[in-house]
Amino acid sequence: MNLLLLGPPGAGKGTQAKRLTEELAVPQISTGDMLREAVKKGTALGKEAKSYMEKGALVPDGVVIGLVEERTKAPDCKSGFMLDGFPRTVAQADALGTMLARQGRKIDHVVAMEVNADELVARLSGRRTCRTCGTPYHIEFTPPKKPGICDKDGGELYQRDDDKEAAIRQRLTTYDAQTLPLITYYAQRGLLRRVNGLGSIDEVYGRIIKAVR
Ligand code: AP5
Repeated sequence: MNLLLLGPPGAGKGTQAKRLTEELAVPQISTGDMLREAVKKGTALGKEAKSYMEKGALVPDGVVIGLVEERTKAPDCKSGFMLDGFPRTVAQADALGTMLARQGRKIDHVVAMEVNADELVARLSGRRTCRTCGTPYHIEFTPPKKPGICDKDGGELYQRDDDKEAAIRQRLTTYDAQTLPLITYYAQRGLLRRVNGLGSIDEVYGRIIKAVR
């Protein structure tokens, strides 16, 4: 199954994708995680992406399209994949359609996670992420058992640079301007599955499974 998780920053895409990969036996492809890894390693790509990410702007289309094309050709994507955070512009969505057609594949479902702006800000400002495995926690809603330590692998939890107030506001504006048009784009293609992203992580997970089964 080829799945796409769409939703504003903080909607819970990463949280749900990590659980869904086990249920659906397909890998998560998160462009945000891939770009953060490149920044951490200080590669040329990472150096280019860093300035955009810190400001809450999108990294240029050509950069992320190339990354995703490479990744979808990897052997673990043979029976499907789950895209998290890609596409984010109409140009990326068009490029995805073309690259999948070239590979003889298609998107099966686009899950649009719907969460209001107040909740998004509350989720992002309290988020802490594991440096090693990328698991997201929340200091209030989904705290780790030991403060500052990942339950899964004991990694250190940190606050992302783009989870500071000014960057959060800019990311939400960027989403409305550049990514929201994809809701109509995929609805017109009969692929959109709207899911209420409010409620417990288990409740949202159940709704997604129902929408794609
Ligand atoms: P990216 O890493 O993709 O960030 P994002 O889309 O802004 O999404 P987030 O990771 O912030 O949120 P999420 O929906 O995954 O929520 P999460 O599960 O963590 O992108 C970062 C940057 O990289 C972009 O700004 C851009 O610069 C660049 N980039 C990436 N992809 C790009 C692309 N395709 N094109 C161009 N540039 C690109 O949850 C958030 C919090 O809420 C957590 O604390 C979690 O514990 C909590 N939570 C989750 N679910 C619930 C729930 N049900 N109830 C209560 N709390 C919950």
